[in-house]
Amino acid sequence: MGKDLDTVPLAPRHLPLLGHSVALLRDRLGFIASLPRHGDLVRLRLGPHTMVLVCDPGLVQEALRDDRTFDKGGPFFDRAREAVGNGLATCPHGRHRRQRRLCQPAFRPARLPDYAAAVTSAAYETTEAWTDGEVVDVNRAMLAITNRALATTMFSSRLPDTTTRQIGEDAETIMSGAMRRMFVPAPFDRAPTPGNLRFQRARARLRQTVADVIASHRADGSDHQDLLSALLLAEEPDDPQDGPGALSDGEIADQVVTFFIAGTETTAGLLSWVLYELARHPDIQDRLHAHVTQVLAGRPPRAVDVPELTYLTQVITEALRLHAITWLVTRTVTEDTKLGGTRLPAGTTLALSQYAVHWNPRIHPRPRDFDPDRWTEQPPERTSFIPFGSGPRRCIGDRFALQEATVVLALLIGSWKFTALTDRPARIALSAACVPRDLRLRLEARPAPGNNDGHPTGRPVPPRHP
Ligand code: HEM
Repeated sequence: MGKDLDTVPLAPRHLPLLGHSVALLRDRLGFIASLPRHGDLVRLRLGPHTMVLVCDPGLVQEALRDDRTFDKGGPFFDRAREAVGNGLATCPHGRHRRQRRLCQPAFRPARLPDYAAAVTSAAYETTEAWTDGEVVDVNRAMLAITNRALATTMFSSRLPDTTTRQIGEDAETIMSGAMRRMFVPAPFDRAPTPGNLRFQRARARLRQTVADVIASHRADGSDHQDLLSALLLAEEPDDPQDGPGALSDGEIADQVVTFFIAGTETTAGLLSWVLYELARHPDIQDRLHAHVTQVLAGRPPRAVDVPELTYLTQVITEALRLHAITWLVTRTVTEDTKLGGTRLPAGTTLALSQYAVHWNPRIHPRPRDFDPDRWTEQPPERTSFIPFGSGPRRCIGDRFALQEATVVLALLIGSWKFTALTDRPARIALSAACVPRDLRLRLEARPAPGNNDGHPTGRPVPPRHP
């Protein structure tokens, strides 16, 4: 028994032909956050496609945990694969476990301290020219940090700055192109519009850059202690069902491109949202500065400091709740099944949004307030806090991203005060990641801590990496 799909309520603000595209393009977060009022499952129409948004947090978990029945696939993933290939984030269940096992060594906790050192120097080098009173384009600056940090952790040997920048720009072009492609019918992608040409050029150039670096790593054969070496050296016994026991060069290129697309704009977005909220809440920023100064006592942040930076962790957690970066993930139903008592035929597209969970007042009281103290007593709970997804397809870079955000913010907040230029709420970039657009903040140098080493802002200078 169970209810049929057509008994699932259709979301309001539906237009003929366009369905909910206009509501989503105008105010995707507010619109999605309003939908749990209409039911545990709600139908959405995007042009000719119908999808079912899962609003109930328990059902969201159920769908995310069973990645065989609720697999990556369907029209939206087909479009995403055009952008990033068939790497870990986009491959279907049948190819996923082997890829995940072979990628996992790159993200082992034992590797995190090395990565933290690379991130700290990337943050330092990117911001060392900042001056007191300057206005910075925050998202640009954070993207420069996360690109440089990932390029260094990925390829250890330093790439020229121009190449690192180009990788970042290409990843960003692909991210925003991927978002546009989700909403626009496929034939429009092939038209030679400036946007499509930019997207195709960025995709081809990024793959070429990555192929070149893989070839040079393979040629020298040694373990560079970087992410790429971890992928090149990962090995398990061949399995006739699962596939070869090592990743091919093509598969590694897919993973590297995936990590750049999945790991740079997202983490830069998180950093930007934290700075945006701190600029709007000077009292929280001052408290955080005092906390960071006390924990670090003038040293550059390292991996071992991360567990001690408890208030900073609360601030980051709250930013991830209020501004989840990946605002929508989709799944395709691979066989007739039921979710929450509703029959879902094979081929149904499911959509899951962090905003339906994180902005639900029954789960998080006063959901639109930025309040890091809500995490003082209780750490975030698995069902109600899902910025990195859940289940077997949960983000593989979650600890990497949290460590990166913590050391970068500790470095920045220890040295600078960030001030808002306007009270207006941030606008959100139209990208697959939900990140602030054109966020500009004024810098004020903080007085040097006790054991200042002589840097003009009093900032502790980390050792260069490597
Ligand atoms: C704040 C930063 C980040 C956020 C919010 C984030 C969020 C997410 C989410 C929600 C998913 C699950 C998507 C789904 O279920 O369909 C995911 C998957 C993934 N993320 Fe992240 N991510 C972040 C940083 C990173 C970093 C730094 C990397 C790599 C360096 C990375 C690599 C991946 C990969 C490869 C997957 C696919 C995992 C799989 O399917 O096995 N992410 N991420």
